Amino acid sequence: MKTSKRAQSIPPSETIAVTTLAKQLKAQGIDVVSFGAGEPDFDTPQFIKDAAIEALQKGQTKYTPTPGIPELRKAIADKLRKENNLNYTPEQIIVNIGAKHSIYESMQAVLDPGDEVLMPAPYWVTYPQTVKLAGAVAKVLETDASTGYKITPKQLKAAIGSKTALLILNSPNNPGGFTYSPDELAALAEVLKGTDVMVISDEIYEKLVYGDTKFVSFASLSEDAYSRTLTVNGFSKAYSMTGWRMGYTAGPSNAIKAMDSLQSHMTQNAVAFAQYGAIAALEKGDNDIEKMRQQFENRGSHMAKRLNAIEGVSCTQPTGAFYCFPDVSAHYGRTIGGVKINSSGDFAQALIEQANVAIVPGGAFGCQGNIRLSFACSMEQIDKGIDRLEKWLKK
Ligand SMILES: Cc1ncc(COP(=O)(O)O)c(C=O)c1O
Repeated sequence: MKTSKRAQSIPPSETIAVTTLAKQLKAQGIDVVSFGAGEPDFDTPQFIKDAAIEALQKGQTKYTPTPGIPELRKAIADKLRKENNLNYTPEQIIVNIGAKHSIYESMQAVLDPGDEVLMPAPYWVTYPQTVKLAGAVAKVLETDASTGYKITPKQLKAAIGSKTALLILNSPNNPGGFTYSPDELAALAEVLKGTDVMVISDEIYEKLVYGDTKFVSFASLSEDAYSRTLTVNGFSKAYSMTGWRMGYTAGPSNAIKAMDSLQSHMTQNAVAFAQYGAIAALEKGDNDIEKMRQQFENRGSHMAKRLNAIEGVSCTQPTGAFYCFPDVSAHYGRTIGGVKINSSGDFAQALIEQANVAIVPGGAFGCQGNIRLSFACSMEQIDKGIDRLEKWLKK
C-alpha cells in the first residue's frame, strides 16, 4: 500500500526504539542494563487503581464528554489554582490521551502552515515531529553547558521574527534534567511582552524537582504570560501512570474550544474509567508522589556523581525530571572495540553492542555532544550500568 508523504516524513521515536531494543535483547536472555526508559519504574499507587476499578464496576464504560468528565476538569482546575496559582475555569481545561496528545493537539489547534516555532535544544524528541505535522517550521535555539543548557532572554529576543508564532518551554526538562528558576522564566516572559508569540509550557515533570529547586508554572508569572500560554501537564510521570494515557491542557477558552472540536473527531474522550483514577490521584496522591520523588533525587545525584568521576564525561547535577544528560564528546574521534565513535549515535550503538548498556543518543534531542541516561531504575542497575560504561570507555 502507498503511504503518505506526511507519514514518510516522520521517523519513529528514538527513545521508544531504544527501550524496545533493550526489551528485545533482554527477552533473548542478554543481561542488558537499560537507561533508556522515559517512565517511572514504580507501579501505579493502589488507591488510584482502586478508583478506576470501582468506576468500571459501577458501569463507567461509555463515552464521556469529549473534554473529560466535569468532576475531573474541576479537580484539575482546583489543582492548578491551589498548587500553581493559576485561575482556569473547568471550561478552560481539556483532558487528552496523555500529554503527548496534548502537545500534538495544541499545535494542530493554534499553528498554521509556515508558522515558525522556537524550540530550545535540548528538546523532547517528539516536539519537532508535532511541529512538522502541523505544517509549521521549527527554529532550534542552541544551548550548551555554560548556561546549564537553558536559553537566555537575549537569545530569545534575537530569535523572534515576523513568522514566530510559538515558543515551546519544557521545565523540568527531558532530556536535560535541568529546571528554569522562577526568575529565569520571568525574564523570558518579559521578552515576549508586546509580541504575538504563544507559548506551550510542558510541565509534565512538575512534581519531580530536587534540592532547593522551586517549580513555577510559566502562565502564573503575569497576566501577559497567562493570556499567551497553553499549560500542558499529565499523570504519567508524577503518579507513575504512563500506561493510563492521561494528560491535559489548560489555556485561553478559544484555544481549548478549538482543541475540543479537533479531539471530537480524532479520539474523543480519554478512557472513561481512567478519568476516575486521575481524580483519585489528584485528590490523594501527595504522599506517594513524595516517596517516589525522594528515590529519584537520591538516584539522580548518585548517577551524576558516578558519571562525573569518569574521564571525559561531564554531567550537570539534575535538578528535575529523571535524566542525566552528560557531555561525552571528549570521546568522539576515538576507536573503541574496533568501532570509530564520531557522534552520539555511534556512541549509543557501540555501547549497547559491546557493553550491553542502553542509552539514548543526544542527537535525538538536538545535542550531538551528549547522551541521555534515565535514572528511573534501581540503584543496583545504576551502579551496574555505570560500571560497564566506565570499563568500556577505558578500553
Ligand atoms: C517532556 C515530555 N512531555 C510530554 C511527555 C508525554 O507524556 P505522556 O504522553 O505519557 O503524558 C513526555 C513523555 O516522555 C515527556 O518527556
